[in-house]
Amino acid sequence: MTRARVAVLISGRGSNMAALLAAAADPAYPAEIALVLSNRADAAGLAHAAARGVPTAVVESRAFRGDRQGFEAAMEAELARHDIRILALAGFMRVLTAGFVARWEGRMVNIHPSLLPAFPGLDTHARALAAGVRLHGCTVHLVSAGVDEGPILAQAAVPVLDSDTEGSLAARVLAEEHRLYPAALAWLAAGRVSLAGGVVRIADARGATGSLANPLPAAPGLSKG
Ligand code: GRF
Repeated sequence: MTRARVAVLISGRGSNMAALLAAAADPAYPAEIALVLSNRADAAGLAHAAARGVPTAVVESRAFRGDRQGFEAAMEAELARHDIRILALAGFMRVLTAGFVARWEGRMVNIHPSLLPAFPGLDTHARALAAGVRLHGCTVHLVSAGVDEGPILAQAAVPVLDSDTEGSLAARVLAEEHRLYPAALAWLAAGRVSLAGGVVRIADARGATGSLANPLPAAPGLSKG
């Protein structure tokens, strides 16, 4: 099996990157993480990747001072050097130009910590708590020109509990991110993802059955729930 060569783009901690590396350590996984690329030299995830023998590169966005085209050209050079076919954004904190997005259309995925289209942008957990939603979660989507707007590949939901803080909710969502992202990247790398009218279809994917309700509805016959 030829594995798709993937670059994971990070800016910081890199826990999703670590989850992708762990999944790709299995030779049967359809993607090989051939590069971890950061726009910050101090991104903690770089050391984790290097310790596992994964090639790393840094293209410092700060060095380009608003020259987004120059920054992206430098990134493209690294991606070409490593013969990258698919990009996985994992906490990559730069907005990409429409030109870059177009060049990678259908081959670039992102993970976002909310159930899109709810809560695009930053501070998703605090905003979910403030809005009082009872279900929250994460989304893996194809990247399009609008921030956090591309076609949705997969989502995982978690309950929001009355006792939740931003931190406890973030941790519950992050655990799901680490499960969902490797699965979604595998579908893309294996060529199972197609688009129909802007909506993603995944060949032979098992759809979830059942439902998640929060709070749980009362059992039949009980007046209080
Ligand atoms: C994650 O919550 C991800 O959904 C968001 O940025 C965060 C990155 O965390 N895009 P990590 O660097 O993967 O730990």
